[in-house]
Amino acid sequence: MSSKHEILEKNVGLLAIAMVLAVSIGGLTQIVPLFFQDVVNEPVKGMKPYTALQLEGRDIYIREGCVGCHSQMIRPFRAETERYGHYSVAGESVWDHPFLWGSKRTGPDLARVGGRYSDDWHRAHLYNPRNVVPESKMPAYPWLVEHSLDGKDTAAKMTALRTLGVPYSDEDITGAQAAVKGKTEMEALVAYLQVLGTSVKNKR
Ligand code: HEC
Repeated sequence: MSSKHEILEKNVGLLAIAMVLAVSIGGLTQIVPLFFQDVVNEPVKGMKPYTALQLEGRDIYIREGCVGCHSQMIRPFRAETERYGHYSVAGESVWDHPFLWGSKRTGPDLARVGGRYSDDWHRAHLYNPRNVVPESKMPAYPWLVEHSLDGKDTAAKMTALRTLGVPYSDEDITGAQAAVKGKTEMEALVAYLQVLGTSVKNKR
């Protein structure tokens, strides 16, 4: 007996196409509406784009692979919010290209670490974590105090981000190099860490 279904089952190419179609319908009905929801696409009220120095700090965070051990994504569970603060919301990440949510927590989540410690604490910790947390197994990053930024590419980075919708003004961009030139990588990274999660009030 030959049914239409049998034709489908016996023809691998056709079956593959039919499977892709079936799975796409399920996927698309979940994913596509998200593109049009303000809660996902609109920045959190009052959020400011990273300053030139914070942006350079973020690039150092990426370069040093911090995301390999630290997530920036607090899930909406009590155990997480008790420890880290208000859960992460989509609007906090709309200007992050690429986002650094991460998926590995060898160290604690950093989504709301901004303001939790002093700048001095961060400098001491990044220079050698064991100086402030004796049992830490985080690597030391002593070279961050030795390297200074020249800011040659900062304006170009901000221009690129502006094309992706980050609201940098012309003044932000023209002043970018002057804002970072001569600052150490340590200063930049700490500036970045100190702003993390501060756009949503920390309900701890
Ligand atoms: C090999 C894994 C690993 C890497 C890579 C790593 N960390 Fe850590 N980090 C940890 C661990 C473990 C802790 C907890 C112990 C401590 O505080 O030192 C920690 C703690 C921290 C804390 C304190 C968080 C808190 O809430 O107490 C900060 C801030 C931090 N790391 C920033 C960074 C930055 C910035 C980088 C990249 C330059 C980085 N870490 C790279 C493992 C790592």
